[in-house]
Amino acid sequence: MLMLSFKHVVITASLLLSFLVRAELPPGAESLDLMPWPRQVVLPDVAQKWVLDNHLAIAVSGDDLGEMPTLWRSRIERQTGWQLLPAPQDSTRAGIQIYIAKRVAAVPQLASDESYQLIVTPQGATLAAATRFGALRGMETLLQLLRRDGDNTFLPAVTINDAPRFPWRGLLLDPARHFLPVADILRQLDGMAAAKLNVLHWHLTDDQGWRFASTHYPLLQQLASDGNFYTPQQMKEVVAYATRLGIRVVPEIDFPGHASSIAVAYPALLSAPGPYAMERGWGVHPPTLDPSNEKVYAFIDTLTGELAEIFPDAYLHIGGDEVDDSQWKQSKKIQAFMRRQQLADSHGLQAYFNQRVEKILARHHRKMVGWDEIFHPDLPHNIVIQSWQGPDSLAASAAQGYQGILSTGFYLDQPQSTAYHYRNAILPQTLDVETQVAKDEKAQSWQFTMPRLKGSAVTGSFTLIDGEKGWRGFIDFSGKTRRALRDIHWQRDGQLSFAVDTWMGDTQPVLNLQQGKLSGYFLLGNVRYPVSGSALAAIPAGLPSQVPDQAAMKNILGGEAALWSENVTPEILDIKLWPRAFAVAERLWSPQEVQDEANMYQRLQAIDAWSVVSVGLQQQAESSRLLTRLANSNDIMPLQLFASALEPAQYYTRQHLKFQAGQYNQFAALNRLADALPAESNATRQLDQQLQILIAHPQDKSAAQAVRVQLALWRNNTAWVQPLLAQNSVLKPLQPVAEQVQRLSELGLMLLDKWQKGQGISDSYRQLAQRQLDDAALVQDEVVIAMVNPLTRLLNAFKVQ
Ligand code: ACM
Repeated sequence: MLMLSFKHVVITASLLLSFLVRAELPPGAESLDLMPWPRQVVLPDVAQKWVLDNHLAIAVSGDDLGEMPTLWRSRIERQTGWQLLPAPQDSTRAGIQIYIAKRVAAVPQLASDESYQLIVTPQGATLAAATRFGALRGMETLLQLLRRDGDNTFLPAVTINDAPRFPWRGLLLDPARHFLPVADILRQLDGMAAAKLNVLHWHLTDDQGWRFASTHYPLLQQLASDGNFYTPQQMKEVVAYATRLGIRVVPEIDFPGHASSIAVAYPALLSAPGPYAMERGWGVHPPTLDPSNEKVYAFIDTLTGELAEIFPDAYLHIGGDEVDDSQWKQSKKIQAFMRRQQLADSHGLQAYFNQRVEKILARHHRKMVGWDEIFHPDLPHNIVIQSWQGPDSLAASAAQGYQGILSTGFYLDQPQSTAYHYRNAILPQTLDVETQVAKDEKAQSWQFTMPRLKGSAVTGSFTLIDGEKGWRGFIDFSGKTRRALRDIHWQRDGQLSFAVDTWMGDTQPVLNLQQGKLSGYFLLGNVRYPVSGSALAAIPAGLPSQVPDQAAMKNILGGEAALWSENVTPEILDIKLWPRAFAVAERLWSPQEVQDEANMYQRLQAIDAWSVVSVGLQQQAESSRLLTRLANSNDIMPLQLFASALEPAQYYTRQHLKFQAGQYNQFAALNRLADALPAESNATRQLDQQLQILIAHPQDKSAAQAVRVQLALWRNNTAWVQPLLAQNSVLKPLQPVAEQVQRLSELGLMLLDKWQKGQGISDSYRQLAQRQLDDAALVQDEVVIAMVNPLTRLLNAFKVQ
């Protein structure tokens, strides 16, 4: 089955083999741990390999790749532990031959050709690329292929034809909220190149910090950076480093909102008189540039000139998001200006401002990028609109002829499962469900309200239709277009569950629908949010999904992962990004058909290890360092084991808890165990996989053994980890969590025994177990015990006697 979804992209030399399941591929093929997965992979009928030794050399012809071949050789040394012999004088003897068809400018552009063909035979590897950029991408693929078996270090024989699906594959880094030193930025660039990401979107300014050292407006960095900013020389160094890796750098200076840092330095440019103090809190703040003040445009003109001097890219990001218009509304001068200019409202005023800014950028030969809010029909069509508001917004601007990139669903600062990011389709999708209710079908609609810990409640309605082929349904979140429901299940007692991906994450309602009343919770990622609601008399009208036509769809250039840094510091930067960003990179690079989540996770795990060894990413090192600090000791194994049972509370739950605790600001310590955790627990995901096998096949011994070993490990670890939790005030709040991990592991082991013996459970036992799981499902100290959901799945599988 697995292979079928891959048949577009994995073909073997013999036609027959291309339809076989993955496990039946020639030896070696089943473990091609490539990410992003290439457009086409052709394997020989009989597995062959090129066995490597330390004579390995790399020859390049057709363009000058500078020191890259030397760097690749040092990565091969890191991957093998070898010391390579000096490269031979005679380049025709090099094992890796790189042929570049066309010499182009070294600075990458949106239209750069990144295609390549990589052929590995038992005699060596040949990489043929259209341009230097294809060679860079192809070498990452080659390095991912390098592996070791019992006898040899080798590359499997293979032919790979590859090119990206989208030309704009970015990563937003935000040094404004918490500063990120240059060395950390450079390392992320290495990671990006490894993942074939090609745009660093550098969010250089925001309310809490101005990080771009201006020559003409030095008070910005002097007064609004706490001493943490990049000099022009440093920014040029980053650009040069990125250029060598074939990565564009698009700087963002956020106008006219998110301007508190400008307000501190140059209050006269703002829409209300100062003085202003540095903003330390997160969120959206009133300070906003004054569009009626000509000095504002002179300021932007000068800054654009300074930026253009440092950043060669054709695009410049002007932000434009989340403009709080309270200062505009309160200013008599600005209101009078709007009347004179015949601007109807604040959005009109922002559009006026953006048109002026766009002309300034054009004079500096720069095209404008901005967030959804800049969308306005008066702007020219060469701008790019980056969507954080979702596919509806992206579809609307694309349909109007505006180029766009998607970031909704790729916010890596929200801990979410990698699968959620991976499912993010990028192109707006048609509603894939029949919404008409046939004569012999029954439908029910329910409205719901889900309060959040910060901000307004989420409201909407959903409709379930009981049809010939089972249940189907759709959901209408207020203000959003209609979405289809997946995995509709009715449990005992009329309890309903279903799944739908939303802007908040993987959303799984678990609901009781009784006597016209709706209760229960929405599972957002791994956090339960209580909901209430009631039955509706009729099916709501809803909003039809917006899908641009094929021509307009071409306006969508790709997307960007975003790592906003409210909860990120340099010491945990790599934990937050890697390896998850590889999955986003795959969505942006690989054919749309590459969608198998289990296969993705399998490759992701291998790529995680590869990225540490070959690329030098620090996710493991950062985690070890944080756990060492928490344990006050190098003996961190108990804490690692305990951590493997936990996940950070997903979606923006942690931020919202900090808001409630008065810790929603730049000075809140990020020193909890929650900060050291990856977004999802691999151990628990694997436990869940094994449990699913076991639920389908109660006699599967290997699945049962895997579940038993994992649960016993967690159970037995409690005595070991408790002294560590007791010795550090930061860990103490987790003492009850450790006890719950033990009790849940014991419950799991008990259920496992009963399941293997084919026993049922009594209703009172079920209720007791359910209560224990419900108690353990609460967020504690910003973490969640991840095994609650897999164990709930097992409990629900039992026959109740
Ligand atoms: C954004 O998330 N405000 C771009």
